[in-house]
Amino acid sequence: MCGIVGYIGPRPAQDVLLSGLSKLEYRGYDSAGVAVWNDGDFQLEKSVGRLAVLSDRLEAQPLVGNQGIGHTRWATHGRPSDANAHPHADCSSAFVVVHNGIIENYMQLREELTASGHTFASETDTEVVAHLLEEKWTGDLFSTVLQVLQVVRGAYALGIMAKAEPGKLIAVRKHSPLIIGLGDGENFIASDIPAVLEYTRDVYILEEGELAVLTRDGVACFDLEGHPVHFEPLRVTWDAVAAERGGYPHFMLKEIHEQPKAVRDTLSGRLSEDGLSVCLPELPWSVEQAKQIDRIHIVACGTSYHAGLVGKVAIETLARIPVDVEIASEYRYRNPIVTDQTLIVVISQSGETADTLAALRKAKASGNRVLAITNVVGSSVAREADDVIITWAGPEISVASTKAYTTQLVALYLFAAYVGALRSAVDPGTVAQLVKDLATMPEKLEEVLDTAPLIEQIANEFSAWNDAFFLGRGLDYSVALEGALKYKEISYIHAEAYPAGELKHGTLALITEGVPVVAMVTQDALYEKSLSNIKEVKARDAHVLALAWAGDAEIAKSVDRVLYVPRTVSFLAPLMLIAPLQLLAYYASVARGNDVDKPRNLAKSVTVE
Ligand code: F6R
Repeated sequence: MCGIVGYIGPRPAQDVLLSGLSKLEYRGYDSAGVAVWNDGDFQLEKSVGRLAVLSDRLEAQPLVGNQGIGHTRWATHGRPSDANAHPHADCSSAFVVVHNGIIENYMQLREELTASGHTFASETDTEVVAHLLEEKWTGDLFSTVLQVLQVVRGAYALGIMAKAEPGKLIAVRKHSPLIIGLGDGENFIASDIPAVLEYTRDVYILEEGELAVLTRDGVACFDLEGHPVHFEPLRVTWDAVAAERGGYPHFMLKEIHEQPKAVRDTLSGRLSEDGLSVCLPELPWSVEQAKQIDRIHIVACGTSYHAGLVGKVAIETLARIPVDVEIASEYRYRNPIVTDQTLIVVISQSGETADTLAALRKAKASGNRVLAITNVVGSSVAREADDVIITWAGPEISVASTKAYTTQLVALYLFAAYVGALRSAVDPGTVAQLVKDLATMPEKLEEVLDTAPLIEQIANEFSAWNDAFFLGRGLDYSVALEGALKYKEISYIHAEAYPAGELKHGTLALITEGVPVVAMVTQDALYEKSLSNIKEVKARDAHVLALAWAGDAEIAKSVDRVLYVPRTVSFLAPLMLIAPLQLLAYYASVARGNDVDKPRNLAKSVTVE
């Protein structure tokens, strides 16, 4: 992953670069650096640690100049260090480069370059690009870059400047996201749109295999053979402050509280006005097309994978199509059994996750239709899939995914009902009831969020423990998996999710006096069974917090605490259960003094394998 920015114009470049990088820190934050062009030379400043460390250094000793590139890093090749931080330069510092992605053949290139006399200053794959520019210099930056691109293999978004050609910035995109910001007498590059929104709303999302040459006065785009390509900028209409914290102490808490709105936005225009059916205008499928689907493979990573598990139940219930849910990093290397009629559904908040994208490409290569459920319009996943359902969660900044998951669930319920109706697999009355129930979700979610103070209190107690267990049956288990992931990734407390009936086959041995157990009990058909499992852990003196329907007086007799959620049908329970689990993880993380929005070792967008 990593985030890159570049600027050319009249402003102090350092300020623009630092401001852009601060919007990209979600992509990586183990080191950062900038290179600014001034008076015939590049000035570089890089430092291991958060961007704040670099900002402090630059405040003490500013780099003066109006053109530069910057980078925030998430280490892949070479540990986080000053030397490995970008930008990287060649032996004579004639070129500076920032890079997001992986140069796959860098070992071989490095050996060849070393043999021909180049000296490397870092352990990174990126540095070979700088030395290759030096090695292949033709006297012209554009043609040299094209030559270099012919020998590097892998995924990259690059920002490049050359001493010999001041007033020029080159940007290249191949399998890693990159956008151009178009200003008046100034231009920008960045890994993501929020990095330039302070300065311009006119952006161009570079296509796969495109190169852009930026000067103050203009931008020209080319393919990797050097042929000019026409490009159409788009105007960003969403608000820059939507990406700010808006008064909350952390983005995660803000994003948890944005869920009623995110769900409302994702439902908007997708429930028919007569309240009887689901409309997905973005999927103008014929009845025949829907009927032909023989199987669905849902492919995703992490939280999005967990949403897929709920999607499986939704689709199998409403559309009666068999569904397999697969982890993208596994799926991409398997030889899955598919027919021409198998639909591949990829789920990705960012739309840039490398494994999910690879699974999508694999499916397309085998001729399968791909539907993407993603939160980012214009992302690689959105652009490469045949059909796209956008989740309107808005920008998700916190590394731990919250509102994206909830809106993915909504999208999956909508899709299941839509396809089920097309296939006549579900009766119209059931769809009408679902539409009615879904419409009440935003309000019910608001009620759930009102329980935050109680959850904070429980989380404070739970945070003293080094373990936690999350139990459930059926859909409750699918949500338990996401609850446990959230808990471990931000609180750093060991957390495991189990199908409640499976405990006695081994894990029960871990249940000791006082250990926190969070038990979901919202699947009406499995209520008695879940209760028995709760009794099993209670008999071993666990401290049980139940998540149950409002009005369930019975459950309180068997557990230590109950957190009630507003009643809806068991089928939609995941939409009610997830916010309390997110809040539990959030407050446990705060209680432990962790960096909630940027948990250790993680980054928001995993654009490497
Ligand atoms: C966990 C989390 C990750 C992501 C995963 C996939 O809170 O955010 O597990 O869900 O990295 O990311 P996307 O959905 O962007 O493909």
